[in-house]
Amino acid sequence: MAIKTIDPNNISIPELQGYLQAAVAPRPIAFASTVDKDGQVNLSPFSFFNMFSTNPPILIFSPSRRVRGNTTKHSLDNVLEIAEVCINVVNYPMVEQMSLASTEYEKGVNEFVKAGFTQVPSTLIQAPRVGEAPVAFECKVLQVLPLGTEGGAGNLVICQVILIHVQEQYLDEAGRLDTTKIDLVARMGGNWYARAFGDALFEIPKPLFTRGIGIDALPEAIRNSTVLTGNNLGRLGNIEVLPGSPEIELMKNDAEVAEALTKGTDALHRLAQLRLEAGNTEEALKILLLK
Ligand SMILES: Cc1cc2nc3c(=O)[nH]c(=O)nc-3n(C[C@H](O)[C@H](O)[C@H](O)COP(=O)(O)O)c2cc1C
Repeated sequence: MAIKTIDPNNISIPELQGYLQAAVAPRPIAFASTVDKDGQVNLSPFSFFNMFSTNPPILIFSPSRRVRGNTTKHSLDNVLEIAEVCINVVNYPMVEQMSLASTEYEKGVNEFVKAGFTQVPSTLIQAPRVGEAPVAFECKVLQVLPLGTEGGAGNLVICQVILIHVQEQYLDEAGRLDTTKIDLVARMGGNWYARAFGDALFEIPKPLFTRGIGIDALPEAIRNSTVLTGNNLGRLGNIEVLPGSPEIELMKNDAEVAEALTKGTDALHRLAQLRLEAGNTEEALKILLLK
């Protein structure tokens, strides 16, 4: 594999930004509503965003200094004047309007109006929330941490969530947010976005309370398989104990297994792979352990 190695000091800031944003992706989007000291409302998206603590509940986003002109964004100026922000999450039905709201309108222009979002008063803070957002977090700003003084420097806006609004249509029967319904979008490199919906979603069973044996504990013939992928081995390494020989031998009663056995190792591994991808990890491992 040919590798290109890059010293961040030897490329332009836009180039560096390109590598960082395309590689550190998909990034969730904070649709941040803020107000200045005169109560003027601003609404802008920020994908330098994530959660960093549950107790206390902390969200952080970062309005950067503009590369061109090294000026600051209204969202940053506002949180320095009024230390509050409403962070709205963005789902697919909102994505084009959200993008429109990222336009660099002059100070005082309300992007709720420009982008056609419903401005709903917040309960505990002055900054309004986006009525269309599946979830809105009313936050107080604890700290603003500048990461540099040049164009492209981020400013960490460290926020504590003080109230959460959730649209009930995105809850499951147990009252939890339903990942399959919420249809969130994320920012990639360039103009690309990702949509977390349908076939794009998948689950990985991770037994938090047990401990997988690890890929290193799998027999060499499995680890060096020419058929199995890294993902296949990762799933197998999650198993807690290797099955015993009587259980393994029983697999020979399975007609497909018996047939694959006559065709050789690769056929057996391909069958195991099918079972693995169908979610039958134990069965797959027994097939792989057959002699
Ligand atoms: C999806 C998306 C994500 C963005 N993420 C960021 C970001 O993390 N940091 C940033 O400084 N600008 C980001 N931008 C650009 C800002 O939204 C844009 O500069 C905005 O107009 C700033 O507005 P303001 O000056 O009113 O705060 C993003 C734009 C889009 C469309």
